Amino acid sequence: MTKDTKNPPIDRVDGRMKVTGGANYFADFELPNMAYCVIVGSEIARGTITSLDTKKAQGAPGVLGVFTHQNRPPIPGWDATVGGPADGPPPKPKTEETYRILSSPKILFDGQPIAIVVADTYERATYAASLVKATYAKQAARTDLSKHVAEGIAPGGSGDYSRGKADAHQTAPVTLEAQYTIPIEVHNPMELHGILAHWTGPDTLMIYAKTQGVNATQNAMAQAFKLDPKNIHVHTEFMGGGFGMGLRTWPQETAVVAIARKIGRPLKLVMNRSQMFTLVGHRPYTVQTIRMGADQTGKLVSISHAATAETARYEDFTEATVNMTKFMYACPNVSTRYRIVRLDRSVPIWMRGPGEATGAFALESAMDEMAHKLNLDPIEFRLRNYTETDPEHNRPYSSKHLKEAYQKGAEAIGWSNRKPQPGSLREGNWLIGYGMSTGVFNAFRWEASARALLKADGSLTLQSAVTDIGPGTGTALTMIAHNVLGVPVERIKVEYGDTSLPKAPSQGGSAIVSAVGSAVFDACTAIKQALIELAVKDGGSLAGRQADELTLADGILSADKEPGKKVTVSELMQANNLTVIDRTKESKAGPDHQKYSVYSFSVHFVQVRVNPMTGVVRVAKAVSVADSGRIISPKTAASQMIGGVAGGIGMALTEEAVIDHRFGRFVNNNFADYHVAVHADVPAIETIMIDKPDPIINPMGAKGMGEIALIGFAGAVANAVFNATGQRVRHLPITPDKVM
Ligand code: MOS
Repeated sequence: MTKDTKNPPIDRVDGRMKVTGGANYFADFELPNMAYCVIVGSEIARGTITSLDTKKAQGAPGVLGVFTHQNRPPIPGWDATVGGPADGPPPKPKTEETYRILSSPKILFDGQPIAIVVADTYERATYAASLVKATYAKQAARTDLSKHVAEGIAPGGSGDYSRGKADAHQTAPVTLEAQYTIPIEVHNPMELHGILAHWTGPDTLMIYAKTQGVNATQNAMAQAFKLDPKNIHVHTEFMGGGFGMGLRTWPQETAVVAIARKIGRPLKLVMNRSQMFTLVGHRPYTVQTIRMGADQTGKLVSISHAATAETARYEDFTEATVNMTKFMYACPNVSTRYRIVRLDRSVPIWMRGPGEATGAFALESAMDEMAHKLNLDPIEFRLRNYTETDPEHNRPYSSKHLKEAYQKGAEAIGWSNRKPQPGSLREGNWLIGYGMSTGVFNAFRWEASARALLKADGSLTLQSAVTDIGPGTGTALTMIAHNVLGVPVERIKVEYGDTSLPKAPSQGGSAIVSAVGSAVFDACTAIKQALIELAVKDGGSLAGRQADELTLADGILSADKEPGKKVTVSELMQANNLTVIDRTKESKAGPDHQKYSVYSFSVHFVQVRVNPMTGVVRVAKAVSVADSGRIISPKTAASQMIGGVAGGIGMALTEEAVIDHRFGRFVNNNFADYHVAVHADVPAIETIMIDKPDPIINPMGAKGMGEIALIGFAGAVANAVFNATGQRVRHLPITPDKVM
C-alpha cells in the first residue's frame, strides 16, 4: 500500500533536460531530405473560391509543390464521408456542412487552409505562400454569437436536466437573474502546433507531432490512411503546453501526412501564431443565464442555468458547461439547458478546465451575488447549502473535504479582513476587495497500461506511451514507483511519449496520474510480489516469513520482526539468476467507482486592488486550495495550481480573442494584442493541498488536479472586484472600461 506519510517534494525529474535544451519537442527533430510546409489561409469567412493562382508560387525558388483543393493527395479514410467532423463519422443530427481540408472551393471560416505550399526551406515556403492569390465569391458570414443566441440547437444526445419543480423560482423569497458571458479564448501555449511526417515505407509512417496522445494520433492517422495502427509510429515525448488543443488530430496535420506521401520526403509543418487562433480550436464564446432563488435563511430554493455556445457549421462541439450546477449545492429545484449555435467559425475544442470553467464563472458569480442579497458572507452561504452527497445522482461522493478547503483558504488569504460592504476598504488610492469561488471536476480513471523493469543493479525503468504536456507526469510516475518499491528516485528512469511503449490515454481531463499512475502502481506491485516470493520460498534468504512481514525500502527487503534479517534486491536477483524483473500491467477503474460520484474540488481566494481612477484591476494575492486526494508529487502539484491561477488571471482580466465581424476575422491574433497573464500580472500564489487520499479512485488515492486549478478562478476575481468596488462585472474579461 501507499506509505501513509505525506510524500516528500522532489524536483521535476526532467527539469534539467527541459531548461538545458536536452528535451526534444516535435519541431526540434530534423530528418535527412526534410521539406517544409506553410499554410495559406482564406481571407473570407464564408463563400467560394472563384480563382486560385498558384503559378507564381510554383515557380518560386525551392518550391516542391503547391497543394490546393484541385490537387490535394487523397486521404482515403475520410474523403468519402460527408456531414461529420473532419476526422470521424457523421454525428446525429448531421452537421450543416462538411469540412474536408483542401477538398472543395467552399469556405467555411476565416483562415481555412486554401493551399499548403511545400519548399526545401521554411523561409522559401513562407515566401512562396505569399505569392498564392485567390479571389472569392463572398457570402455574408455569421460570426457573432451574441446576435444569434436565440438560434441555439440542442446538440445530439445532451438532454436538458431538471429535478424538483420547474416554477420554484417564481415563489422563492429572494431571487436573482443574471447573464454572464465568456469571450473566445485561445490556448496559446508557447510551443507552436504542427507535425513532422515521414513515410518510412509505402505503408509505414513515422510521426513527430504536437499531440496530447500518441495513441490517439496513431489511431486517427490509421483511420485516415486505412493503415494498421501498428504501421504508424508516433513520438511526442515533450510538449510545450497543450491545454486541450492537442486532444485531437487536426485536418492540416492529416493533409501534411498525405502530401508527404505524395512528395516522398519527410515534411514538417510548424504553424504560425496567428494560425493558432483559427486552426487548433479555442474556448467557445458562451452566453449563460442563471436564475437563482433562495429563502431568508440562506437556503437555495432553485437554480436554473442555461448556456449557449458557438460551434462551427461543420462540427457540433459540446462541453459540460452547465454540469456543475446539477450537483454542487443542496438545492431541491434545479434545471439546466445547453445549446449550440453553428456559426461561420472554426470549431472550438476543450481548453483547460473546459466548459466547467465557463460554467463555474457563472454559477460562482451568481452565488456571490445571492450571498450579497441575503446579507451573508459568501463562504457562509456556501456552507448553508453544502451537500455531503451528490444530489444529481443520489449517491455519495467518494471523498469531499471542501469545508476544510474553505477554512484553510480563508485563513491564508486573511478573509477576516474582508468588509461585507463593497467599496469600504482602501489602501491609499486603491480599493481593496476579497473574493472566493469553488471549482469542481470529474476525477476520471481511464484504462491505461505501463511496464516496469527492475534490474539487478537496483535501477528501475518505467514505460508508458503517455505524453507529458507539462504537468510533470514523469515526476509523479517516479514517485508512485518509489512509494511501492522503495527504489531511490534518482535510480528511476521514465520512458514515455512513444507508441512503441505500453498504451496510454491522451493526457487530458486531469486523469493521467490516476490512470497511468495506477498502471505503474500495479506493475511495481507485481515486481514487489515477485521479489517477496523469491525471498520467502524454500532456501530463500527470508524463507518461512509471511509476505506481510517484509518491508522493501532502498533496495533492501527486511523482516519487520527480525531487524538483522535482510537481503538486498541485487542479492536476491543474482541468487535466482535474474538480470531483470519485467512486469506490464493494464489498469482501470474498479466496479466500486460506479457507486460514487468521484470529483476533485478546489477553492480559490483572491485579494484584488482596484484603481478607481483608471479601473485597473490587479490580483494582489491568490490562494488556491486543492482537495484532490493524495498528492503524489507536491512540487509539481503546486506548479499545476500556480499555472491554473496564472491562466485564471488571464481569463479573468485580459484574455479575449476579438473578431471584426465585418470580416469574421480576428484582429488580435498575436501575443502582443491577445494578452496572456505574464509575470507582472501574477502575484505570489499560495497553494494549499488538503492531501487526504480518496478511498475509491485508485490505489494511490490520488485524484486529478489539472482542471480544478483553473475552474472557478475567474469567478473569485469577479467577486473580489465587486467587493472592492460594488461593480458587478458579468462579462469577461474584466477590463478597466467595465470597472469604471
Ligand atoms: Mo485538458 S482541456 O483535458 O487538456
